Amino acid sequence: MTWKHICAATELPEGEPVGFKIGDQRIALYKIDDEIFATDDVCSHAFALLSTGFLEGHLVECPLHGAMFDVRDGRCRSGAYKDVRAFKVEIRDREVYVHLDGGPASEDVRDNVTDATP
Ligand code: FES
Repeated sequence: MTWKHICAATELPEGEPVGFKIGDQRIALYKIDDEIFATDDVCSHAFALLSTGFLEGHLVECPLHGAMFDVRDGRCRSGAYKDVRAFKVEIRDREVYVHLDGGPASEDVRDNVTDATP
């Protein structure tokens, strides 16, 4: 687990996701009401970047099939898909640091896939 410097807090626009590539990891940052959150940028369903999706309150909508993830904890709130990882964020001297674990997404995601069949 490592804290990684990502950007200056002032670089993040309010209410719009922004994607970053840190080594092999892609993360998305979200500034909402002056608080900053971080999740995996790649959707848990297929390859689509959440940073190119739409933010509604604390929910980001995947641009490909519309799954919605809560940026505070990564949980899938709409759609029967796995959660994405949410990362701890710290602001130090107005710079954004994210606590990355470097592992594959499947290690941390909670298995909340629901069976849609009756
Ligand atoms: S790729 Fe995100 S919901 Fe399908």
